[in-house]
Amino acid sequence: MSQLGIEGAHPGGINLTKKIFERENVNKNSHILDVGCGTGQTVAYLARKFGAHVTGIDINSIMVEKAKKRMKEKRIQANVIQCTVEKLPFLDNQFDFVISESVLSFVDTSSALNEIYRVLKRGGRLIAIELTMKHPLSEKEEDAIKQFYGFNSLTLKKDWEVRLKQAGFDHIRIKKNTSTNPTPVFHNPEGMEPELYEILEQHLEYSFKYQGILEYRIYSCTK
Ligand SMILES: C[S@@+](CC[C@H](N)C(=O)[O-])C[C@H]1O[C@@H](n2cnc3c(N)ncnc32)[C@H](O)[C@@H]1O
Repeated sequence: MSQLGIEGAHPGGINLTKKIFERENVNKNSHILDVGCGTGQTVAYLARKFGAHVTGIDINSIMVEKAKKRMKEKRIQANVIQCTVEKLPFLDNQFDFVISESVLSFVDTSSALNEIYRVLKRGGRLIAIELTMKHPLSEKEEDAIKQFYGFNSLTLKKDWEVRLKQAGFDHIRIKKNTSTNPTPVFHNPEGMEPELYEILEQHLEYSFKYQGILEYRIYSCTK
């Protein structure tokens, strides 16, 4: 993402994020945490649209740098911190919302969910747009997909539900993502290395092959 200059990398893109938050009770007093914020597109949107207190965290230094640059250039008041979602540098009960957009499959999901639960206020909500397997694949196929994308796990809908419950979440709602991905915008295609084209090609091949099996769901739940 960072090398290709892609702004946002979750299914449905920023339009899905906007649609989700239209239905949430967000205002200028809301404290929102975006875990795995990437280049900060969602952080910037939430801070500008609602005037909320927004913090983004990401483990990747290039992402953090890009997100900080975005806030500075657009004169947006928001914090961006480099850290892991598995060990958040926040006190308990700080946030009204935590958003995770295509992040939890890359990490130790249980640790991440425990941490997210810890930093949410009571009554606070987790909204997660996450990869969801429709049915299990062969071990070989799962390993190849995990290795290519760097996923830590490939999870079925029922297992996401179990993990959310184990972390303590309640009122779990699961929705199908029906919106389509906006076409990615590459800011520096002329600078793209051949290796990156190959990665994109492999991604398109997997997307086609596992269409209808590797899907996304929108999970929302309450502490
Ligand atoms: C598919 S991208 C999604 C980025 C962003 N949420 C978006 O929708 O554009 C996954 C992001 O998760 C971040 N990430 C991966 N492991 C992480 C971890 N352990 N803690 C925090 N961020 C992590 C990556 O650096 C990357 O920015």
